Amino acid sequence: MKRSIILNVNGAARTAEVEPRALLAYVLRDQLDLTGTHIGCDTSQCGACTVLLDGRAVKSCTVLAVQAEGRKITTIEGLAPDGGRGGRGGLHPLQQAFWEKHGLQCGFCTPGMIMTAVDLLSSKPNPTDAEIRHAIEGNLCRCTGYQNIVAAIQAAAAAGR
Ligand code: FES
Ligand code: FES
Repeated sequence: MKRSIILNVNGAARTAEVEPRALLAYVLRDQLDLTGTHIGCDTSQCGACTVLLDGRAVKSCTVLAVQAEGRKITTIEGLAPDGGRGGRGGLHPLQQAFWEKHGLQCGFCTPGMIMTAVDLLSSKPNPTDAEIRHAIEGNLCRCTGYQNIVAAIQAAAAAGR
């Protein structure tokens, strides 16, 4: 049986009608139209669905939507000041760095990579390459070979210093 929940997403209260078993990843995409959160596996393998819950990166396919009630959810759409629409707010520094350092090819993994990197840089503003690689080990990329992703995260870290 569905129940109505209120989710705090990207600073706004959003209502969703969910079954208790509904996964946060699907509710974000299918009910709240936040399709920047990707689903690559559904089994906690790929990290494409990573969002921030109270500032910490989590795979939203491992979280029930009802568990996220009362928590602060941030998706890739909530990172840029203007929601990434290219207005005066511009891009988040990590989005800018991924663009400049060619940290993506097909882009499927990119939202999850960036959300994981946001969490990393919030606790470790000066990470080593090894620390970056450790942080993103739960995020799979089939295109880039990871080198440019590491370079992009390093560039964002430098920009924040
Ligand atoms: Fe969540 Fe792959 S869709 S880890
Ligand atoms: Fe294609 Fe990472 S850029 S999966």
